[in-house]
Amino acid sequence: MECSWKTLLLLVCASLAVQYIAIRSFRESLPSSCQGNSHCLERQSKESRWRSACDKSSAPVETAAARTGSVLGRRHILLFAATRSGSSFTGQLLNQHSGIFYVYEPLFHVWQSFTNASCCQRRAPERRELLGAYRDLLLNLYTCQLSFLESYIHPQPQDHVTAALFRRSSSHALCSPPVCPESADESLAGLADEAWCHKKCRILNLTLASEACRERGHVAIKAVRVPTVGDLRTLSEDPRLDLRIVHLVRDPRAILTSRMTVFSGFRAWRIWNATGRQPRYVDLAQIGHTCRDMEASAETGLLRPAWLRGRYLLLRYEDLALHPEDKARDMYRFLGLDMDPRVLSWIAQNTNVSAPSEWQYKYSTARDSKATAESWRLRLNFNIVRAVQSLCNSTLALLGYKQVQTVEELRNLSHSLVEARTF
Ligand SMILES: *[C@@H]1O[C@H](CO)[C@@H](O)[C@H](O)[C@H]1NC(C)=O
Ligand SMILES: *[C@@H]1O[C@H](CO)[C@@H](O)[C@H](O)[C@H]1NC(C)=O
Ligand SMILES: *[C@@H]1O[C@H](CO)[C@@H](O)[C@H](O)[C@H]1NC(C)=O
Ligand SMILES: *[C@@H]1O[C@H](CO)[C@@H](O)[C@H](O)[C@H]1NC(C)=O
Ligand SMILES: *[C@@H]1O[C@H](CO)[C@@H](O)[C@H](O)[C@H]1NC(C)=O
Ligand SMILES: *[C@@H]1O[C@H](CO)[C@@H](O)[C@H](O)[C@H]1NC(C)=O
Repeated sequence: MECSWKTLLLLVCASLAVQYIAIRSFRESLPSSCQGNSHCLERQSKESRWRSACDKSSAPVETAAARTGSVLGRRHILLFAATRSGSSFTGQLLNQHSGIFYVYEPLFHVWQSFTNASCCQRRAPERRELLGAYRDLLLNLYTCQLSFLESYIHPQPQDHVTAALFRRSSSHALCSPPVCPESADESLAGLADEAWCHKKCRILNLTLASEACRERGHVAIKAVRVPTVGDLRTLSEDPRLDLRIVHLVRDPRAILTSRMTVFSGFRAWRIWNATGRQPRYVDLAQIGHTCRDMEASAETGLLRPAWLRGRYLLLRYEDLALHPEDKARDMYRFLGLDMDPRVLSWIAQNTNVSAPSEWQYKYSTARDSKATAESWRLRLNFNIVRAVQSLCNSTLALLGYKQVQTVEELRNLSHSLVEARTF
C-alpha cells in the first residue's frame, strides 16, 4: 500500500518533469499534484535531484498539519544555529521577506529570567525546565500570541507594552506599520532598521505586534539556545504547526574566532592566541559542546527520521557566504515559499565586497561576505586550531571541513578547507 503510493507519487513527478521541460515558460499554470511539495516542481531542472525531492524520504509531511488545522499554508520556520555561526546574516534572508514575521532570538528572555544570578539566588534550572519553557514560548510565538513573552521580559511589561524586547530592531515587522507607524521616512531612505528603529519606535505594543504577526503569512524565529534538533521533536510533531527547521552550521574554528572577537568572556582564549601558550584556565568545554550539539543535530537531521521528514535543511554558512543567491533559493525551495525580490536586493546590497553596506559595517559584527568566510584562518593561532580540531574531529568530518596539519596549510587561502558537499 505504502509502496504503491510512493510509486504513484514518483510517476506523477516523472510526468510533471516531462511537462516541465515542454512548457517551462508556463510553469505557473501547471496542475498541482506536487504543489504542496513545491520543491518538486522547482527541482526538476536539476536532474540529479528531482527524483529524490519527490520520493518519500524527503517529501514533506505537511498534509498532516494541513489536515489537522494549522492555518492553511502557514509555515513555522526555525532558524536553528549556534552563537556566532552567521545566523544574523541568514536571518536577514527571512526578515526581508514581506510575508514573513521574523523574530530575532526571543528565547533570550527565557534564558535570562531563568539564569539571572543577581536575583533570588535561585538554583540553576534543570535542562528539561529550560527546554520546556523554550518549547512553550516557541509554540505561542508561532501562533502569534506574543503576550506570552511578558512572563519573561524584564522589567515586566505593563498594559502589554514594553521597551525591553531583545533586538526588536532586527525584526522588520516590528519596525513597520502598524506596529511602528513612525517608520516611513527611514525605511524610504533605505536605512537599516537597526539604525533608527529602537530610537524612533520606542515602546512596543505586543497586542499590535500579535496582530501584525497574524497578518503576515508565515512566522520565522531565530534561535541559538536550543541545544539539539532532537529537542524540537514535540514541536515538529505538533499538528498545529508546519515546522521547517533551517539548521545553520559553520566551521567551529570560525565560530571560535568570532566568539573570541566579540565576547568579553574569551579573554583566556585571546591570551592563548597572542602568546601561543594555553592558559590553564581556558574553557575548552564550551566549544566542545558546540561541536557535539552541532554534530548530534546534523546526524539526527540527515538520518531523516519520520518526525523530521521534509522539515529539516542543513545549510553551511560558508556555502551561503560564497553563493548567497543560490543558497537562499535552496532555502526558500525547502520552505515551499516564493522568494520575495526584496530578499534578492538585500543580498545584492549586503554581499558586495567592494562596497560594504551600512548593515555590514555596523550591525553585523561578523561582516562576513564572499571574501571573509575563511578569513578566520589568518586570525587564529595554529595551536588553537589544532586543539579545536582534536576536540571537534568528527564534527569537522561530518560537515565537510578539512583539517590542517601545518601552519602553511592553514594560512594558504588558495586552497579552501570547505569540501564541496550536498547534504
Ligand atoms: C535580575 O534580578 C534583579 C533583582 O531582582 C533585577 O533588578 C534585574 O532587573 C534582573 N535582571 C534581568 C536582566 O532580568
Ligand atoms: C495596543 O494596541 C491595541 C490594539 O490596537 C490597543 O487596543 C491598545 O490600546 C494599545 N495599548 C496601548 C497601551 O497603547
Ligand atoms: C558593488 O559595488 C561597486 C562599487 O560601488 C559597484 O560598482 C558594483 O556594481 C557593485 N556590485 C554589485 C553586484 O552590486
Ligand atoms: C590572534 O592573534 C593574531 C596575531 O597576534 C591577531 O592578528 C588576531 O587578530 C588574533 N585573533 C583574535 C580572534 O583575536
Ligand atoms: C579523527 O577522526 C578520523 C576519522 O573520523 C580518525 O581516523 C582520526 O584518527 C581521528 N583523529 C583524532 C586525532 O582523533
Ligand atoms: C597554496 O596552495 C596552492 C593550492 O593547493 C598551492 O598550489 C600553492 O603552492 C600553495 N602556496 C604556498 C605558498 O604554499
